[in-house]
Amino acid sequence: MLLRYKKAFEKIAMGLLSFMPQEKDVKKLIETIRQYEKDSNWQLYLWKKEEDLVGIIGVQIFGEEAFIHHISVSPSHRGEGIGTEMVQKLSMSLGTISLKPTADIKLFFEKCKIEKEEE
Ligand SMILES: CC(C)(COP(=O)(O)OP(=O)(O)OC[C@H]1O[C@@H](n2cnc3c(N)ncnc32)[C@H](O)[C@@H]1OP(=O)(O)O)[C@@H](O)C(=O)NCCC(=O)NCCS
Repeated sequence: MLLRYKKAFEKIAMGLLSFMPQEKDVKKLIETIRQYEKDSNWQLYLWKKEEDLVGIIGVQIFGEEAFIHHISVSPSHRGEGIGTEMVQKLSMSLGTISLKPTADIKLFFEKCKIEKEEE
């Protein structure tokens, strides 16, 4: 299940984001989280599996497009389809806004088949 980020998720969100190569530096990680907190065009979601938050996906909304800047799954849950499911569920919940990858995420994104009702 996708949950919208809230302050109570800050630590777990930072932990998940830190698996991304560009988020290894703590200073950068804090800047990233603040960006999602302060700018409503930047939206962060966590993936809840049973009682645990095991994945994260973050987008920047830009008009009718949403660019995925961050996607990460806890190492112990990789290869279970969670990354793909996050992309698909977010795409559905964005409605007419179309989900696009940024360069770092392009290869993975191309593996995620996106199905929308109107397509
Ligand atoms: C990328 C990531 C989010 C995928 O999550 P996941 O839940 O394991 O993904 P899924 O189970 O839905 O899909 C697995 C498929 O994606 C592929 N994949 C994993 N990482 C990939 C990457 N960086 N680029 C392209 N494909 C990738 C796997 O090889 C697998 O392919 P297969 O189904 O053909 O075997 C996860 O590996 C991760 O957290 N990586 C570290 C963070 C990161 O670097 N994110 C940015 C790179 S996309």
